[in-house]
Amino acid sequence: MAQTMMKKVVASSACVVIGITRRTSARSLAVAGKNLSTNTKDRVLPAEGEITKSVFMSQSTDIFTNLALEDWMYRNMDFSKHHVMMVWRNDPCVVIGRHQNPWLEANVPLLVEKDIALARRNSGGGTVYHDRGNLNITFFTPRERYDRNYNLELIKRALFRGFGIQSIINERQDLLVRNKNKISGTASRLSRLTGYHHCTLLVNANKSNLKSALAKREHGIQTNATASTPSPVANLVEVNNRVTVDSLQTAVGYEYLRTPALHLEDGGQNMISKQRGFQFVNPTEDWFPGLTQLKSELQGWDWCFGRTPDFSVSRTFPVPSELLAPSKVYAATQELAINMTVVKGLIDDVTLNIPPGLVESGFHGEASVITHLKGKRFTSEALTALQEAMLTRHLPSDRKLDEKEQFVAKCFDQVVNTV
Ligand SMILES: *[C@@H]1O[C@H](CO)[C@@H](O)[C@H](O)[C@H]1NC(C)=O
Ligand SMILES: *[C@@H]1O[C@H](CO)[C@@H](O)[C@H](O)[C@H]1NC(C)=O
Ligand SMILES: *[C@@H]1O[C@H](CO)[C@@H](O)[C@H](O)[C@H]1NC(C)=O
Ligand SMILES: *[C@@H]1O[C@H](CO)[C@@H](O)[C@H](O)[C@H]1NC(C)=O
Ligand SMILES: *[C@@H]1O[C@H](CO)[C@@H](O)[C@H](O)[C@H]1NC(C)=O
Repeated sequence: MAQTMMKKVVASSACVVIGITRRTSARSLAVAGKNLSTNTKDRVLPAEGEITKSVFMSQSTDIFTNLALEDWMYRNMDFSKHHVMMVWRNDPCVVIGRHQNPWLEANVPLLVEKDIALARRNSGGGTVYHDRGNLNITFFTPRERYDRNYNLELIKRALFRGFGIQSIINERQDLLVRNKNKISGTASRLSRLTGYHHCTLLVNANKSNLKSALAKREHGIQTNATASTPSPVANLVEVNNRVTVDSLQTAVGYEYLRTPALHLEDGGQNMISKQRGFQFVNPTEDWFPGLTQLKSELQGWDWCFGRTPDFSVSRTFPVPSELLAPSKVYAATQELAINMTVVKGLIDDVTLNIPPGLVESGFHGEASVITHLKGKRFTSEALTALQEAMLTRHLPSDRKLDEKEQFVAKCFDQVVNTV
């Protein structure tokens, strides 16, 4: 039964796929949206029967392009008569919530090494890992008709109708399979006019990459930023090996189209035929004027890292005995302490607490170092500044840090999270 259902779905999807035509593209939609935003108080939303629905399929797998597209639609389109469900997938990336600290949520050095993008989205909530094995879904409606439960219930129905998978929605509005494993993450954003709810479904994401990309490292960070709640996750293929991202996209898309816009009921084939169907969306500047600008903002360091809520870091490192003055005996462990505060991703204040053992063995120069670090990014940029500052005390012929300086640099490197 499920098998034949899927076949039908796939076959008919080929027929209804259309492109967005020039006429209904960005420019006219943008004008309609802007005009509407001037008077919302007495807007009368259409009856259910006047609302049509579309499934948009983004042709991009770039997280920044997709986030920009989502944002573009949120800002510019009028969803009062036309509800849209958009589906996409991304190349490997980690997406953090609007109010989160990337250095806390993700293994930043590993992301750099593995070429996994880090993105900050506009909506709140926790951190998710994505790759081609995730399906991402955004539901756009007018604000008054934003309904998370409707959306999640719809996905639940699609999982059951298409694949016989039983799932539940818990109190945190996560979808769970086998009563405990999370298969979705969810977040949302509301403006005066429009609301969207997006979620991601794990189909066959690389769990080992997921784990290592989000691995907690020792960091010594204190912050009031939103922390993610870790939960046990599962891929849908573990429950039913017939599930693929494509078949799931089709199943959820058809469930969306066969369900009336405002209440959960099965409208069947008849309802599907009244909708606008599946549409490929090519997110380019040509179709969505201003998209490039949105994308470059989302991609910039100032947004991804600079938007991090202010935080402080405090770490101590025991000094290896071979770096201490050999003739002395120390009562306590000799520790280098590094404290700093970071404002908008830039180092604001640093204290290096150099233990007597290191000073007595010939280390000097901590005071001058501080001024060189202020305003530097909390990245290897700060490490480079520290190394430069220590080198200014050397003779021009000696451009190499001694072993004590190297030790300080190594500790500092661990603090700014580049190794
Ligand atoms: C803008 O709104 C006014 C009235 O609210 C309407 O008459 C006009 O046609 C709208 N313009 C566009 C481009 O939708
Ligand atoms: C997809 O869904 C996830 C989880 O809610 C979210 O982090 C991400 O920003 C969404 N959008 C895109 C474009 O990936
Ligand atoms: C996950 O990714 C790792 C490293 O990128 C790779 O070695 C491994 O084979 C992948 N696992 C699966 C199940 O594809
Ligand atoms: C967190 O919030 C508390 C209370 O508002 C404040 O005292 C503290 O300084 C904040 N910590 C950071 C790291 O911003
Ligand atoms: C560094 O931070 C630690 C722990 O937060 C604190 O106990 C210590 O007094 C701080 N040191 C300096 C010099 O600010």
